[in-house]
Amino acid sequence: MKGILLAGGSGTRLYPSTLATSKQLLAVYDKPLVYHPLSVLMLAGIREILVISTPSSIPALQSLLGDGSHLGLTITYAEQQAPRGIAEALIIGEKHIGNDPFALILGDNVFHGAGFPRILRAARDGLDGCALFGYPVSDPERYGIGETDAEGNLVSLEEKPVNPRSSNAITGLYFYSPDAVEIARQLTPSERGELEITDVNLAYLKQGRARLIRLGRGFTWLDAGTHDSLLAASQYVHVIETRQGVRVACVEEIALRMGYIDAENCHRLGTRMQNSEYGQYLIQVAQMAA
Ligand code: DAU
Repeated sequence: MKGILLAGGSGTRLYPSTLATSKQLLAVYDKPLVYHPLSVLMLAGIREILVISTPSSIPALQSLLGDGSHLGLTITYAEQQAPRGIAEALIIGEKHIGNDPFALILGDNVFHGAGFPRILRAARDGLDGCALFGYPVSDPERYGIGETDAEGNLVSLEEKPVNPRSSNAITGLYFYSPDAVEIARQLTPSERGELEITDVNLAYLKQGRARLIRLGRGFTWLDAGTHDSLLAASQYVHVIETRQGVRVACVEEIALRMGYIDAENCHRLGTRMQNSEYGQYLIQVAQMAA
């Protein structure tokens, strides 16, 4: 399975913090925001990842993530010239996707919860069409919303409905069969001039090939697109990390635990950053695994 990490957009809701850098590089407490979606793809067992971003943000993302080899990944980059919609990522990523199923994740989404790797693997293994991840929110008018019937089957999807039929937000993680590219190609732009990802999902729903996986109330999903939500994400990560003594979305540790790199490499990555607590943590994790 391939991965696409969409890290574009203009980040205008975060001005002036994003005047000179991209949102996905801003810190969520102790690490860049983009580590969060990257770690989700890694936990799903995905190692070939295309990062899509604006022409001006790609150089900085590249200097952070490189070609991914230090994490046992292959990371390549493609430009999105203007924020013409999330679904445009499927068209931009066509070559990368080829004939493989793939996961698309938005660069500002933070997921955290026990058993997530198992949920991801199950979604991946049983994929036929598309798998969406639902999460209950208190402000459903801000999101794509999925309504389910009594058996939990998805029956409707709406993008930012004025009168939401449910509180089940569709998160920014989508698993697709390769024909999603063709579906994206057939779309017409919405009123706001974008190729809407909800329209791709609706096409699958009409074909009876859309599945909703509910992330329960013990799970955390945040999208860090505003100052308040970015702060909330930082506070969340801070509480978990200081209480448990483990790091959330630590991509080097995930690479080690997934067997993508060995303890020696993990130690080397930690040494590079040994003046930070993050670097010290990597050294510790590597020593325990050696
Ligand atoms: O976060 C989940 C929500 O993401 C879903 O519930 C919605 O169905 C989905 O439409 C999307 O809604 P948002 O209002 O959050 O989308 P936004 O335009 O803010 O874009 C989300 C991220 O994707 C953002 O970090 C920027 C990036 N992006 C967006 C667009 C439109 C791009 O890289 N390129 C784009 O063209």
